[in-house]
Amino acid sequence: FDTGSLAGRRVVITAGPTREPLDPVRYISNHSSGKMGFALAEAAMNAGAEVTLISGPVNLATPAHVKRIDITSALDMLDAAQSTLEHCDIFIACAAVADYRPTSVAEHKIKKGNEEIMELHLVKNPDIVATVASAPQRPFTVGFAAETQDVISYARGKLQRKKLDMIIANDVSQAGIGFNSDENAVTVVTHDTETAIAQTGKRQLANQLIEQIAHQYKTTQ
Ligand code: C5P
Repeated sequence: FDTGSLAGRRVVITAGPTREPLDPVRYISNHSSGKMGFALAEAAMNAGAEVTLISGPVNLATPAHVKRIDITSALDMLDAAQSTLEHCDIFIACAAVADYRPTSVAEHKIKKGNEEIMELHLVKNPDIVATVASAPQRPFTVGFAAETQDVISYARGKLQRKKLDMIIANDVSQAGIGFNSDENAVTVVTHDTETAIAQTGKRQLANQLIEQIAHQYKTTQ
């Protein structure tokens, strides 16, 4: 692990879930521990980077020397991400952002009625990593793709559609890796490379990913 590979570089990482409020006491969310994003923040910091971690609600301690911005909803995460862009060399989107949010947030707690069926109206959230990748002064942009089938081809589709530089493909159909677990195995996909990383602890994986990101980032400079 090269402790100087990101010296002087500014890295922004999104992590954890977002929460989309329905009323003052309820929300829609995703399962996400935030562990991968926090491990990446620590690894990037150890590689010499200045790290900002934009995090949804998680139960994790902030890694030493990492600047943390806490947010709740996807719209808040987008605002926070955009506020960092002027000083960002590498953007890594690890967050499990809710794809949709309720069209409106009730001012008071929604009361239980007599109806057996209740319908929720949802509106699509902005795609944060795609917005960052399309910004005029775009950083080197990395996304994640959690898939259950045709993992590499779906990941490649997202790499192109979201205009990313790199995507980390994760097969979440395999037991014991990915969401909420302590281990993960991934394939790092760029426009012209594919590199498999065997199952390992998230901390070790984070170090390997930061090494790959630093290497690929340098080829674009
Ligand atoms: O399209 P999908 O949600 O599978 O893409 C996953 C990647 O896109 C992850 O890097 C995730 O952090 C990012 N993403 C985002 N904003 C969204 C949805 C996903 O930044 N609204």
